[in-house]
Order: sequence, then structure tokens, then C-alpha cells
Amino acid sequence: MRVSVVGLGYLGAVHAASMASLGHEVVGVDVDAARVESLALGKSPFFEPGFDELLARAVGAGRLSVSADVAAVAGARVHFVCVGTPQAAGSGAADLSFVEAAVSSLVPHLAVGDVVVGKSTVPVGTATGLAARVEAVGATLVWNPEFLREGFAVADTLHPDRIVYGVPEGEVGRRAAALVDEVYATPLAEGTPQVVTDYATAELVKVAANSFLATKISFINAMAELCEVAGGDVTRLADAIGHDQRIGRRFLNAGLGFGGGCLPKDIRAFMARADELGAGEAVAFLGEVDAINTRRRARMVELAVEVLGGDVAGARVAVLGAAFKPDSDDVRDSPALDVAARLDGLGAHVVVHDPQAIDNARRKEPSLAYERDLEAALTGADVVLVLTEWRHYRDLDPARAAGLVARPQVLDGRGALDRDAWQAAGWTYRALGRP
Ligand code: UGA
Repeated sequence: MRVSVVGLGYLGAVHAASMASLGHEVVGVDVDAARVESLALGKSPFFEPGFDELLARAVGAGRLSVSADVAAVAGARVHFVCVGTPQAAGSGAADLSFVEAAVSSLVPHLAVGDVVVGKSTVPVGTATGLAARVEAVGATLVWNPEFLREGFAVADTLHPDRIVYGVPEGEVGRRAAALVDEVYATPLAEGTPQVVTDYATAELVKVAANSFLATKISFINAMAELCEVAGGDVTRLADAIGHDQRIGRRFLNAGLGFGGGCLPKDIRAFMARADELGAGEAVAFLGEVDAINTRRRARMVELAVEVLGGDVAGARVAVLGAAFKPDSDDVRDSPALDVAARLDGLGAHVVVHDPQAIDNARRKEPSLAYERDLEAALTGADVVLVLTEWRHYRDLDPARAAGLVARPQVLDGRGALDRDAWQAAGWTYRALGRP
């Protein structure tokens, strides 16, 4: 089927190439000319494992074309809206201007019977407003939230763990769902669970899922705070409670907490929207989830100051990791980069290493020093902070690393290192929530 994808960021670009790999004829549209140019050449504008190959194959086979002109969507029957909904300046609410602009630009090119599929994360109630504009030209809106994780974006798109549609009532909704089913025929045939519901539920599913994940992370980080004052080990605690299948061990990794372009802004937008609906109390706990998360960053800075003897001015600090998570070059709301910037603000000489995110980090925090070579980043360090759990850091040889630094002191912000091995190699090892 001919489909269009509007918005070619982490979500849209991966979605477009994935739909092409399922055999569809895909046209992708983005207002960013440089991004379009890169994608048209089959080159990814960002780092995402497996995406380069998928993109090159889709472009090479002629199944994916890209354009900066939205008129290129004409002839497609299903149009995916994949633009961002960042946090609005000066408030916790979502900035919907990109979604509004995308739908406005699409409407003049829609044909009767087309389906517009919203994938962006939006405050509940948004779809109903957009649906009226789409219906005015004889098309139908389906709300189909996306659950992909960066670092696993290709696998999550091709093999999602569920497919959710919010559709209007009656025959028009059933017809629209059936058309989108054709696009997702392959994952549906694999037995992917499907939930078809109303717009509000579909919108809420997305923010509820991200709120739950954020809460799970802040729960274990709250336990880390308790472990720190009571002398417990949060890693062992997580292992033990995780054996209860009702709780589960996944997403119970204590450390520097969550960042990225989704979890932090989604819980804030959820609180803002709930307030507007007069139900702020129902999700007021997310304010605490956010506060616990931010406190972890402050605690990491305190720990660094402590091991440096109370004065960081002039100390050389090696920060390993700038991306908000491994296998990504995304530095949006990155806990690692935040800690690096705070230590820089205290007068430390911070040297940041990351296998993929240095260019993005430099744009965001230009005053920090960056080093692409891991051993050079470690050389002469008074303290080493592991803030993103890249495999490169897990695989470090502690004995060799000890020979490079000025003082063998390591702070493990992600529970990434083998504590016994590092201590055996002469390192002072400190971690959040562990003795
Ligand atoms: C998140 C959700 O996991 C996806 O399902 C969702 O589709 C996506 O947001 C979105 O809304 O688009 P993502 O932001 O890629 O995906 O990253 P996660 O894997 O959820 O990690 C988020 C943050 O939590 C990272 O900073 C990570 O380091 C941190 N984290 C994760 C922990 O601190 N502890 C954990 O146990 C797990």
C-alpha cells in the first residue's frame, strides 16, 4: 500500500523505513531540509542500531522516498503523523504546535476514505479535536500510539508488543481500522496483541505506560535513597523483589534515573493535562516521581564532591557517557550530561566521553571538554564517573584503567561495573544506593 509518514525524527524515520521493509510504498515528509537530504541518500541523521541498513535497503529498493514538500503525500491512503510534542517553554504542558502544523499541512492533500494515523504522544482530548478537521474532507483519524524504545527502535517497530488503535464509533471506525490493519498485516499475523478502543483511551494508554515506567524507576531510586542512609544495597534489593513475578526485575535498575525525550516530558504533560481536567490529584504522585528522579543527579554531584575531598575546583573529572541511555546518540534531558554540566559549574575540569553522542552533547553543552578516545578521557582523571551504561564501559579492564588515571576512584552511576573486579584492581568504588 502507498503510505505517507509526516515527521522523520527517531520515530518517523524508523517507522517509514520499517513500513517500506514490510513491502509498502512509503513517502516520508519533513520540514527539515538537511534531514530530508540525508535520508534521501540513505544516510541516517542519527544513531540507532540496525537503522542504517534498513534505511539503505528501503531507499535502494525504491520503496522509500522523502521530500520536504507535503504535497508528495498525495496518493497515499494511510498517513502517519510522527512529529514531536516537546515540553512547552515555561510550563510542563506539551507543545502541540508541530502536531497542529502537520495535520493542517496534510488536510489539503487528503482524499475521501484516507486514514490519518496519529502516533505522536499527545494530551488526552487532542485526537477528538484533530478528528473534526480530518473528517471535514472525508478522511478518518485513528490514534495509534507508539511504544518503541530508542536503541531498539527497529525491532520494536517491526515486532511491537501490542498494537493500539483509538477509532471513532461505528462503521467509519471499523473501516479505518481495517485499512490500518492492512499496513500492519505482518506484525498482526505474528500474533501481536491488538486493542481497539476510543480516542481518549488510546491517548491515555501511551502516557499511562510511560508514567508507570517512570514510577517504577523512581520507586527503586527511592529505595536507593533509603539504602544510602540505612546501609543497604539497592541492587540486591531489586534482585530480591524482582523475583516476585507481580513486580518483575525489568526497569528496576537504580542509578542516575530516567531522561530522554519521552519519560520526563510525558509525566509533566500528563500532570498539566490532568490539572486542566480537574483531576490533578489523581496523578500528583508523578510530581514526586519527577522529584526523586532529579534528586539522583544532585546526589551524584554530591558524591563526586565528597570523593574529591570537598573541593572540585580544578579537579579532572572523566565523565563516561553523555547519551541519556546506551545505544543512542540522544542527549535530550540526559542525566549524564546534566551531571557533567553541574560539575563543570562547580569549577571541575570535566572531560566527557561517549561512543556516539559527542556531537549532540557539544551542541547542548559547548563549554565542556570532549574526548573521543576512551583511554585519553581517563588519563590523569582524579575521579571517573560512569553515567551511561555503554558496553564500552562495562568491558573496561579495571587494571589497565587504573594505570591511566591520577587517582583510582570510580563512581558507578548505573550499576554498570563489576564492583569486586574494580576493587580488586585497587579502585575506590562508590555507587548510588550501594555501600
Ligand atoms: C520510553 C519507553 O520505554 C518507550 O516504551 C516509549 O515508546 C518511549 O519512551 C516514547 O515515549 O517514545 P525511551 O525514552 O527510548 O523509551 O527509553 P527507556 O528505555 O524507557 O529509558 C528511559 C530512561 O530510563 C533512560 O534514561 C534509562 O537510562 C532510564 N532507566 C531505564 C533507568 O534509570 N532504570 C531502568 O531500570 C530503566
